Amino acid sequence: MIDLFGKRLIINTGKGGVGKTTLSAAIGLAAARRGKRVLLMELNAKEKTSRLFGSSPIGFEPTEVEDNLFAVNITPKEALREYAILKLRLKTLYRAVFENRFVRTFLRVIPGLNELVLLGKVWFEEQANDGPGGRPRWDMIVVDAPATGHGVFFLQIPAVITNIVSSGPMFDEARQIQAMIEDSSRTVLNLITLVEEMPINETIELKRTTEETLQVPLGYVIANAVYEPMFSDRQRDLVTAVRAETDSDGSHLDRLLEAATFRSNRVQLQREYIERLDRELDLPQIHIPYYFTERFNFMTLSKIADEIERQLTGRVDEDPPDPPQPAASGGG
Ligand SMILES: Nc1ncnc2c1ncn2[C@@H]1O[C@H](COP(=O)(O)OP(=O)(O)O)[C@@H](O)[C@H]1O
Ligand SMILES: [Mg+2]
Repeated sequence: MIDLFGKRLIINTGKGGVGKTTLSAAIGLAAARRGKRVLLMELNAKEKTSRLFGSSPIGFEPTEVEDNLFAVNITPKEALREYAILKLRLKTLYRAVFENRFVRTFLRVIPGLNELVLLGKVWFEEQANDGPGGRPRWDMIVVDAPATGHGVFFLQIPAVITNIVSSGPMFDEARQIQAMIEDSSRTVLNLITLVEEMPINETIELKRTTEETLQVPLGYVIANAVYEPMFSDRQRDLVTAVRAETDSDGSHLDRLLEAATFRSNRVQLQREYIERLDRELDLPQIHIPYYFTERFNFMTLSKIADEIERQLTGRVDEDPPDPPQPAASGGG
């Protein structure tokens, strides 16, 4: 088993729409509830984390969305600006160089530059201390990686750079970033997937390319939106038997039986996909239920965080009981 809560850097990857942002937030929340100081990083995304926490929009500077839990959304432009100012020391020089129209056009066409500065920012936060010699600013950083393909490409960049240049500051930094993402004591890469045919195939493919092209330690495969069984095998057989005996006449009963059949087939199918993941990936799994809610809000996120805690540790910290209400004054 991998000690997920013991890692400093958790990178979550998977195709767009599989639940990366939601589950990154839930992992961060679960860790923050254990008392860890957590930074959630969305990278170059249409920021969605604020909606989950009901907070104000999230940008480059950390926003505290819950106790111990901070969130940022990083664009390459802001990350490059911070880096350049740090290196050049002078803001005016930054403006003269990086806000020059021709330089901007040039920067835009350097392949991998965006990915490099984003990953550089992750590294910068991982290294950051509260004051010189102080404790690390973050106990854990959860990275919501760009969608698959792109997601793996982004992790390949440091190696590409160290292969091209062999000395100098860029080389040193790329090497240190690479050392961070390859360090299994600090870092883990989780694969997030929906339990459907195409996403499963893509996840198996993703694991293969990851192992072929990267030395990044793999963590969990997180199967998201898993239908929980509603019926026992006996009940399922009963539904089949009753269906065989009744007309498909569109009646209320007929439609209920149809829905029950659909649901249990779905559960069965997902079970097979999960077995396939288990066989072909050989990674530990976390299963997140499908939540049927109209509004996916903090309450649902909180349930997912509890679910992750439960599956990783076999227990959930109960919320402390409400403090006793002060005795009503005036005897109402
Ligand atoms: N376990 C779940 N049950 C129900 N809906 C979910 C679940 N996980 C994610 N969703 C919904 O799926 C959509 C995509 O999730 P999101 O986290 O934004 O994916 P990604 O970041 O991978 O694009 C969102 O509308 C989200 O509310
Ligand atoms: Mg997302």
